[in-house]
Parts: sequence; structure tokens; C-alpha cells
Amino acid sequence: MSCVIIAIDGPAGSGKSTVSLKVAQALGYTFLTTGAFYRGMALLSLKYSTEQTGELLKLYSQGKLRVVASIQGTEVFIDDENVTSQLSDEKTAKRASTISALPEIRQALLEPQRSFAKPPGLVAEGRDCGTVVFPESDVKIFLTASLDARALRREGFEAKESLQSRDHADSTRAAAPLAMASDAIHIDTSNMTIEQVVQEILEVVRSKCG
Ligand code: DC
Repeated sequence: MSCVIIAIDGPAGSGKSTVSLKVAQALGYTFLTTGAFYRGMALLSLKYSTEQTGELLKLYSQGKLRVVASIQGTEVFIDDENVTSQLSDEKTAKRASTISALPEIRQALLEPQRSFAKPPGLVAEGRDCGTVVFPESDVKIFLTASLDARALRREGFEAKESLQSRDHADSTRAAAPLAMASDAIHIDTSNMTIEQVVQEILEVVRSKCG
């Protein structure tokens, strides 16, 4: 049985994670939010007070960080403690942005991300799912929204300036920057409801995958 892979990329606040989870549940596929790997690495870095690539990779290879993805969503464990609720802290997001620019860390996290591609299918969302992690995806979607729309969606959660500086860091880094794959379908979600975006993606999936 083959595995259908749907890659959904875009900047923070574009609606990616909410939309991707709904698409995965509508199709009965596993949902992987790949940012959980970088946010998990950030929590590992904060817990063990190190930003050194070698030390982080060693902690990772010792199995201290575990990412679990299912149709319900993605959960993160550090030293067997469920730290999923800490993933959205601003401190975690900032450290994740720094760590995600390290090429060796990105390289080490490739296979673990790919391991979730199992039948019947996977919806993976992030920044480089269509370009680097799953370049052979059956469907590639790139979601965007205006800065104002994105800041409004994350109100009380992330300030506009923080969103803007994280966007800049994510799109200008040398290793796998946020970029639209040449064969991706672009959807601007600024004036769309979550349900409209979900339906549009499901239509693309139906037309491409039958
Ligand atoms: O999607 P998110 O906000 O949870 O991502 C957290 C950080 O990790 C963000 O700075 C971008 C980075 N990231 C990445 O570099 N590559 C991915 N595939 C997913 C996230």
C-alpha cells in the first residue's frame, strides 16, 4: 500500500497547523508538525543549558527527545516527560528559530521526520516539507497571509515584531530557508476561513490523488 504525502509549508500564522490537522483528520492520515522537532530541540537546549551543535546532537542521539505523531496531532517528550504544552512559549520559539538555522541539526532531523511517512498517508507541515524533507510529496501547498492577518491570528501569543523578525530569520538562513517549492500550489489565506482553506486543499488532493 502506498503512502500519500501532503506537504504544507508557510510562515507562522498562515494557518498551517490548524488547517493541516483538519486535512489530516478528514483523510485519516498521520499529522506531523515538523516545527515540533525544532521546538523540541529548543526545549532540550534550554533544559541542558547548551546551544552547541555537538552537545545537542549527542543529547538527541541518547534518545532524550521523542516526537510522537498521530492523527490526533504531534506530541513531544523530553526525558519521557510530556512537554507539548511548553512548545508554544515565546522563549521556545526564539530558541527554535536559532537552532533551526544549524545545518547539522537539520540534517540529523531529516530521517526522523521521514519516518512518519507510512500508509495510508501523512500530512506534514513546516517550512521545508515540500522542498527538502519530502521533495517527492504528492501534493505541495504553500500558505501565506498578510502580516496583519497573521499577527491578528496570533494575538496574545506572539507580537507582530517577533513574528516579523522570526519570518526574516527563517527566510534568509542559509540552510533550508522558508521557500515555496516550484511545483507547490500557493494559497493566500488572509481573507479565508479555516474551513475554506481546508476544503480548497482537499479539492487539490482529490484532483491529484483520485
Ligand atoms: O512552525 P513553528 O513555528 O512551530 O516552527 C518553529 C521554528 O522552527 C521556526 O523558527 C521555524 C523552524 N522550522 C524550520 O526551520 N523548519 C521546519 N520544517 C519547521 C519549523
